[in-house]
Amino acid sequence: MPRPHYVAAIDQGTTSSRCIVFDQAGNIISVAQREHRQIFPRPGWVEHDAQEIWQAVQGVLAEATGEFEIAALGITNQRETTVLWERETGRPVCNAVVWQDTRTDALTRALAEHEGLFRDKAGLPLTTYFAGPKIRWLLDEIPGLRERAERGEILFGTMDSWLLWNLTGRHITDVTNASRTMLMNIHTLAWDDDLLAALGVPRAMLPEIRPSAEVYGRTEGGVPVASALGDQQAALFGQTCFAPGETKSTYGSGSFLLMNTGQEPVASKHGLLTTVGYQIGTGPATYALEGAIAVTGSLVQWLRDNLGLISSAAEIETLAKTVDDNGGCYFVPAFSGLFAPHWRSDARGVIAGLTGFVNKGHIARAVLEATAWQTREVVDAMNADSGLDLTTLRADGGMTADNLLMQTLADVLAVPVIRPMVAETTALGAAYAAGLATGYWADLDSLKANWHKAAEWRPAIDEAAREREYRNWKKAVARTLDWVE
Ligand code: G3P
Repeated sequence: MPRPHYVAAIDQGTTSSRCIVFDQAGNIISVAQREHRQIFPRPGWVEHDAQEIWQAVQGVLAEATGEFEIAALGITNQRETTVLWERETGRPVCNAVVWQDTRTDALTRALAEHEGLFRDKAGLPLTTYFAGPKIRWLLDEIPGLRERAERGEILFGTMDSWLLWNLTGRHITDVTNASRTMLMNIHTLAWDDDLLAALGVPRAMLPEIRPSAEVYGRTEGGVPVASALGDQQAALFGQTCFAPGETKSTYGSGSFLLMNTGQEPVASKHGLLTTVGYQIGTGPATYALEGAIAVTGSLVQWLRDNLGLISSAAEIETLAKTVDDNGGCYFVPAFSGLFAPHWRSDARGVIAGLTGFVNKGHIARAVLEATAWQTREVVDAMNADSGLDLTTLRADGGMTADNLLMQTLADVLAVPVIRPMVAETTALGAAYAAGLATGYWADLDSLKANWHKAAEWRPAIDEAAREREYRNWKKAVARTLDWVE
């Protein structure tokens, strides 16, 4: 009897790399995971070692797929994180600059005259978050690098490109990842001369832009490498949000709420990003509006690693449950400035409302509530931009294992929150795209049929309490701004 075929996905995330093997029903068959170092050379700087990540990816790929016959391999990745490497040797020229890194704050302010250009052509606000300013900073700071890049000796890529280069030998990226560089025109899906000139990035260092699902090449073992999507777009796909208006929110180190807006890019008036959702083969691109929140799960990690208040991330729920409420305390984790809908790179985190009454249980509760209130802010922006009111939230990602957080989300959003059977929707989305490209799955309908609800939380607090807390949260947010010299 032939051995069953499966599809595998590599999920190269901010804190770890994973490989997950799925069957045709979208069930998880095997998982392997490795963390990599977070390198903080200075306040506001965050780096990764791209070689260490490639080794971790090779390790998890071998471990998870070892005994299985794999029909296709998909890739999904932390977005915006910028890798530069030598074409000749394949060696990175420096550590990767991570999406959370704010070193380009002064540079982005100096580029303010181009703000409108970036909004119109790239669909993005001018902030430290995206790859383009990070490339420019490295070209300015590392002696001789710009000349080498202009000669085509230095290549740029986000993590998808770096992995695809190592897996297949091709220098390519997909449209979703390219849409986070500030260098791609989101209307034409091509690198744009005006954007390249504004940022001073040589075209010779850029990868070729490809659809999110097609066979790009084969691994050494002969497995087709058949998808690449930024992790949040992959989660949108894995949650089967294929119709305009369908929305998901993923809770990882940061949190990202994306709404499918169909085949036209929709410009935001309320601080959201216009981004590419996915492109299957030569079909049209599907766009999304995105509310990006920089710090949610990484705040729980910070409580564990920097303060030692908990010994595992899961303990936050137990600690928060030792008290009934936040004790008047609010935690705004503006560690990378504030992302959507504020876009203030100069913001810094605050804990507001402290009294002698506040204990670590209250802090734990404020930490969980910070994720919920930040989600409320982007949902308000999404409702205002789309003219539609969100009626349910499809949540996924590691933090959705926290039932108190899920209940708090339902309470502050005043809509039901739903978790699907497979909460690993990021890897699932990349697997789905790779499986579509290789005929493992026939069409989008067969993917929809795999989606099942696992749990639902309904709002349980009254309107007056909710809005009072929201006003307090907003006051705490105001305190993150305008105080750094
Ligand atoms: O834009 C950054 C995002 O892609 C990172 O996702 O899950 O690694 O925090 P995650």
